[in-house]
Amino acid sequence: MIERDSSELDPILKKDDAEERVFEDDLRPGTFTDYIGQEQIKKGLLLAITAAKQRSEPIDHVLLYGPPGLGKTTLAHVIANEMGGTIKITSGPAIERPADLASLLTNLEEGDILFIDEIHRLPRTVEEILYPAMEDYVIDIMLGKGPSAQSLRLDIPKFTLIGATTRFGALSGPMRDRFGLVHRLEYYSPDQIESIIARSANILDIKIDKPALEKMSFRTRLTPRIANRLIKRVRDFAQVHGDGVVTSDILDGTLKLLDIDEYGLENSDRRVLRTIIDHYGGGPVGVSAIAAATGEERLTIEDVYEPYLIQIGFLQRSHRGRIATDKAYGHLGIEKTDKE
Ligand code: ADE
Repeated sequence: MIERDSSELDPILKKDDAEERVFEDDLRPGTFTDYIGQEQIKKGLLLAITAAKQRSEPIDHVLLYGPPGLGKTTLAHVIANEMGGTIKITSGPAIERPADLASLLTNLEEGDILFIDEIHRLPRTVEEILYPAMEDYVIDIMLGKGPSAQSLRLDIPKFTLIGATTRFGALSGPMRDRFGLVHRLEYYSPDQIESIIARSANILDIKIDKPALEKMSFRTRLTPRIANRLIKRVRDFAQVHGDGVVTSDILDGTLKLLDIDEYGLENSDRRVLRTIIDHYGGGPVGVSAIAAATGEERLTIEDVYEPYLIQIGFLQRSHRGRIATDKAYGHLGIEKTDKE
């Protein structure tokens, strides 16, 4: 069962792209051995999986959080594979009513993995059904309405919930407390991204030379999803403008076409920085003001743009708002003027 909804609009392309998803599915590693990076997380999960298998139990519920595109869904697939269970995929906003969740849970089989993406967007009334399900594998269903309503307790199969979110802070306390394994995904190193690109190129039978491979790893915002996208674009470019092999020149041509700079930033990333600098003297400025000036949603700025700009030292977060750093000024070629 795979349910998709508008909340799964691609955060980077900002459109629902079924073709991209199929492509991502092709490249998804199936085991921890194939999964590159996130070493600490893999170690922790592997231990939990080995122990759970020895006890013939499902593993504890897992919460994965961090910026989009770093492999939360991929890890959930790997966990399901390694456990030998079936994964059922849905997302917070797709589960509107308690009955939707009750139906999902009662249709699970022992050892199944239920993956809820954007779990912070589950309605509160639905969360309440989830708590006893996670703790005791039971759900309480209300039969009837008003004074004659009765509560019926149903057993459900022992399952593992994997929740994913870009916003750990938006999860309710009781929800957070019910996950036994909580992991934050980190940005990958350029070396790891290089290995991911090489692996994907190999699967897709794309020839890419070493200098292009190295350069490309620095243009992907250290994010596998972006790396895998870029591979597709350079393949097209190499086919049309070259002899099919991805070289440094082919890569440069593709990056120019896509307006991706040496930090992997796109026009929209640079617009966020420029807005802070041009409209607000470099900050500090609140996210809402940046959102209004750029026409982006506040949450998109917080979840999609900011994490990487902060990671590379272009943006700082303070209690008074966001500040563009000297490094950002330098990168954009803007001279910093003293504020009076
Ligand atoms: N594709 C997406 N994420 C990956 C990862 N971490 N390792 C290997 N391939 C990937």
